[in-house]
Amino acid sequence: MDETAVALAEGVPEVVPRFTRLAANDDSHTLIFLDDTSLVSRRAEEMTLSSLGRLSASIAHEIRNPLAAIRYSAQLLAESPDLNAEDTRMVEIINNHCVRLNDIVENILQLSRRDRSRPEMLDLNDWVLRFVEEYSESNDIGDDSLRAITQARAVEALVDPQHLQQVVWNLVQNALRYGRMPGEPARVMVIARNATEQGPPLLEVVDRGPGIPPKVAAQIFEPFFTTHEMGTGLGLYLARQMCDANQATLEYVPVPGGGSCFRISLGASVRMAASA
Ligand SMILES: Nc1ncnc2c1ncn2[C@@H]1O[C@H](COP(=O)(O)OP(=O)(O)OP(=O)(O)O)[C@@H](O)[C@H]1O
Ligand SMILES: [Mg+2]
Repeated sequence: MDETAVALAEGVPEVVPRFTRLAANDDSHTLIFLDDTSLVSRRAEEMTLSSLGRLSASIAHEIRNPLAAIRYSAQLLAESPDLNAEDTRMVEIINNHCVRLNDIVENILQLSRRDRSRPEMLDLNDWVLRFVEEYSESNDIGDDSLRAITQARAVEALVDPQHLQQVVWNLVQNALRYGRMPGEPARVMVIARNATEQGPPLLEVVDRGPGIPPKVAAQIFEPFFTTHEMGTGLGLYLARQMCDANQATLEYVPVPGGGSCFRISLGASVRMAASA
């Protein structure tokens, strides 16, 4: 059977026609099926992606143990009194790269867990306050500032709080790392914004650093794109995937006057909640 796709009209998806006789040995009535090729190829792509995802997650999982053993041995070696300066430097390099590999492995494992989203109705005002407190307690941010900006009215959104935590954690880490002018402390804000008639509730991470040039901005959500020597380039890719899994979107918006804004729009979730 010829499976050539045909375009029935301009601007509509191509279809593959299939013909079936309605009754055996009777050519008078024929049923015609038109299969939408874009749907078929999208399904094939999804299947390839999910099996690739499972494969990489199992490889990542298997790498974890030998990697931990290499790292532990390197740490023990570093404590040896017989090491000269050059050897100490080599052990340090092994250790740094183990940390980096471990980050990649953890990110890939997180990615494979992303579709198990457990959405809850949250007030983003409370959430950003708690997030900033927790982040500042568990990281030494020195002279940098990290502030939560809340609204007078509750900012309700339906989202998996753990996923949101991972996404915003990545964005804040980036903002503190890249979002500073040379020699100055970083000033980072995590902002909750109410839904309006025009748009959904938002959660933004804003810094007053140099911003991202358009050519670089076009690539930042690609896996493994990084401008940092120790970065894995998976942070933003992972953050966007997690937003997708929560029917949210993540985009980069340049800040007028300099700086970066990473905006999470939680619209679809709220529409779902409203109709539930
Ligand atoms: N707030 C920001 N200001 C300026 N550049 C940024 C900002 N956030 C991200 N970038 C740019 O986007 C790139 C990709 O970020 P991403 O978080 O995906 O990876 P990474 O930070 O390089 O590595 P990792 O997150 O694995 O440590 C960064 O290397 C940096 O060039
Ligand atoms: Mg990052």
